[in-house]
Formats: sequence, C-alpha cells, structure tokens
Amino acid sequence: LKFVCLSNDGIDEHMVWLIGLKNIFARQLPNMPKEYIVRLVMDRSHKSVMVIRRNQVVGGITYRPYVSQKFGEIAFCAITADEQVKGYGTRLMNHLKQHARDVDGLTHFLTYADNNAVGYFIKQAGGEGIISCGQGIKKDIAYDSIQNGVETLAWYNFTVLRKEREKRRRALSKVLDAPTEGFTKEIYLEKDRWHGYIKDYDGGILMECKIDPKLPYTD
Ligand code: ACO
Repeated sequence: LKFVCLSNDGIDEHMVWLIGLKNIFARQLPNMPKEYIVRLVMDRSHKSVMVIRRNQVVGGITYRPYVSQKFGEIAFCAITADEQVKGYGTRLMNHLKQHARDVDGLTHFLTYADNNAVGYFIKQAGGEGIISCGQGIKKDIAYDSIQNGVETLAWYNFTVLRKEREKRRRALSKVLDAPTEGFTKEIYLEKDRWHGYIKDYDGGILMECKIDPKLPYTD
C-alpha cells in the first residue's frame, strides 16, 4: 500500500493512476458531470493524493493549491465502493494535509462537501492515532483540565480507542472555543484570502479545515 501525490506530468504510470482515480470519482460522485471530473483531474494546476494497492488506485483526493493564498480547495474525494469505511479515507486526508503543509505551504483547506459526506469531513481531526496538544499555554491548561494534570506532554503521541479520541477532541475544542483539525461548517479563514478563488457550488456545504503547523499527520 502506498500514498502518492502527483499531477498530470505526462509520465505513463501516473496517467494510468489518474485515469483510475477519475473513474472512481465518476462512479462515486454521480452528480458531478463526467467532463468536469476529467478536466480537473487532468488539469496541471490540480494535484491528486492517491492510495495505491497492488498498482491499482483504491481512492484519492484531487485538490487545487492556491499557494499565494496559502489554502487549498478539495475538488473531489472518494474511495472505491468495496473499500469504503476501512480507514483509507482518513489516511488519505492525513497524507493530503502533510503534503499540502510541507510541500505547498498551505494552512487551510476549503471544500464543498456533499451532504452525506459532512460526517466524514467533521471526523478528519488529528493524525493517525496522534493527538495534538500543549502548543502554548492555552492548550496546556486545556489539556491539564481535561486530564487532571496527568498528561501534559507537548507532543503526546499515543493510540487511543476511537471513541476516547473523539471525546478528547470535543473536550479540547470546547475548552479552547476553537475547532481542532477536523472540518467545520464555520469558515474562520478571512474572506479576502479565498473569495473569488473558489467557485460557488449549490450542491454542497462549504467546510473549512485548519492544518496544524506541527502535527505529524503520517508515520
Ligand atoms: N458519512 C458519515 N461518516 C462517514 C462517512 C459518511 N459518508 N464516510 C465515512 N465516515 C466516517 C467513518 O465511519 C469513520 O468514522 P469512525 O472513525 O468514527 O469510524 C470516518 O468517517 C473515517 O472513515 P474512513 O473509513 O476513513 O472513510 P472512507 O475510506 O470510507 O472514505 C469517503 C470516506 C471518501 C467519504 C468514502 O466513503 C466515499 O468515497 N464516499 C462516496 C463519495 C463521497 O461522498 N465523497 C465525498 C464527496 S464531497 C467531495 O468530494 C468534495
């Protein structure tokens, strides 16, 4: 299993993967015109993060980085039907965040999420089993109060049960009165950074995700 991030660079193997991804999007996003999908996936200003297994594309995310504005727009996101809800979508999002931050220099993502995918986007907080905490005093206090002072490490790297992770994320978010790294329906990014860059789209809900500046999203 591997994760790659690439755009239409003319390399044969990359073209085969991009076409595979385009076909997954066409099946999984039936409301999107097929020509539109092909155009964006093959457009050189868009990039695609893909999960590849045995040289086959399992799913991916196509996005456009607006480097000068430091945000990216997720155009399409899908996993092939028989591989959904196995964790690939989450791992893909983590690879996307890591790449967008470290290679493109982005701080945020915006996307028009389909109604039925809002739940998936909300859940995309933190890294693979890693919780971000203790960045600055405010977070330290927040974390202290949640954990009764037992755990106050700056980077606390551990794997917890999903429910526990979600409970802590919610508690932390509440104390800080700010979102953690999942997507939110509230748009905190200043409007002049994105307005006019992304196209209005009726078919979904605009959501935002802040990329943590330090969190190791992937192993
Ligand atoms: N609604 C609510 N929660 C969801 C959904 C959903 N549609 N899909 C996954 N989740 C949850 C999972 O239950 C899981 O939660 P948990 O950690 O509490 O168990 C979490 O999100 C992550 O699940 P993964 O297994 O990582 O997700 P998956 O690999 O299935 O990928 C995706 C999610 C991309 C939405 C996939 O199901 C898919 O391709 N769906 C059809 C296409 C689609 O709707 N794409 C998004 C459209 S919006 C856009 O493209 C901009």
